[in-house]
Amino acid sequence: MAVQKKLLRALAGEKQDVPPIWMMRQAGRYLPEYRATRAEAGDFLSLCYNSDLAAEVTLQPIRRYGFDAAILFADILLVPQALGADLWFVTGEGPRLSTITTEADFAKLGPASDIHDTLNPIYETVRILSSELPSETTLIGFAGAPWTVATYMIAGRGTPDQGPAHRLREENTALFEALLARITEATIDYLSKQIEAGAEVVKIFDSWAGSLKGEAFQKYALEPCRQITAALKERHPGIPVIGFPREAGEKYVGFAKATGVDCVALDNSVDPVWAAANVQVDGCVQGNLASRHMVTGGQELVDETRRIVEAFRNGPHIFNLGHGITPDANPDNVQLMIDTVRNG
Ligand code: CP3
Repeated sequence: MAVQKKLLRALAGEKQDVPPIWMMRQAGRYLPEYRATRAEAGDFLSLCYNSDLAAEVTLQPIRRYGFDAAILFADILLVPQALGADLWFVTGEGPRLSTITTEADFAKLGPASDIHDTLNPIYETVRILSSELPSETTLIGFAGAPWTVATYMIAGRGTPDQGPAHRLREENTALFEALLARITEATIDYLSKQIEAGAEVVKIFDSWAGSLKGEAFQKYALEPCRQITAALKERHPGIPVIGFPREAGEKYVGFAKATGVDCVALDNSVDPVWAAANVQVDGCVQGNLASRHMVTGGQELVDETRRIVEAFRNGPHIFNLGHGITPDANPDNVQLMIDTVRNG
């Protein structure tokens, strides 16, 4: 049977006059209906683990805007929690975790095979979504890339330069690599279960890939993404994978070929004309409007949206932002972006 969904067609390499569109963090605090459901759940983590409410917030932006894809509502830091790390969110600041800096800290983590007791509600969310989504909407599952997840596990929080993770990488490479291997193994199992539950595509978020330079990028960003992609495609032949090595810069070139991903997501520091010539030549690309346009709107949003659509017109493209939409965004600007992509 021919692939009909717009997003799956782009991932299969088809160029379309109007690209499919979705948005990173499309279920989020800029939407009043999200804030209401989050309040009902109590807090962010309770929302992630409440399958009915997590499915509800995943569906909200689909109902409001008719995006071509829905992304499972969860978080990349649920994997560390399922491995045994403590995790909590400080309102207005972000995530906090117990830190991993010594062999003794690492020894407290459970095996990758033990994650599913904690993560079962996430698979249930996927099952609910795959029966409730409109037939034209693609369901995307996701996980964090091992490096990005490790940066939070090592530092116990978000860090501007990922300093603690780089220090462990240099000072105790064996421990660092053991941690990355554990996360890689857990991520393969986690994504595999999402696919079994109904995810049609999976995306690997490497938000801090850009801070790995030279050989370190090859070893700790590219190689884990290659391993995860290869294992998933072996278990689930044909499953499309989107890679997001954020701020990889010129290392976006050849990333799809080297890792086997079907699509690379571009952040907004990348020039779309350059990316069309150097990255899209290898297959589908996703991106890359700057999130700030969802706050500022107006003619600048329209012009920049048109410029991106135009640059990627001659190959497979999924329209998206270059990073997640922020809580201060105006929902009307999202509609303006969609209208511009769909109507020119
Ligand atoms: O895109 C989606 O709508 C799907 C859900 C999703 C969330 N987080 C929900 C979320 C996805 C795909 C993520 C990925 C994620 N989480 C990443 C990688 C992508 C990126 O943004 O770089 C990272 C690094 C995290 C870790 C994380 N989660 C941080 C650093 C924070 C705090 C910062 C913030 O925006 O508040 C979160 C919280 C988070 N994850 C929220 C949402 C909707 C906000 C929580 C709230 O409602 O209070």
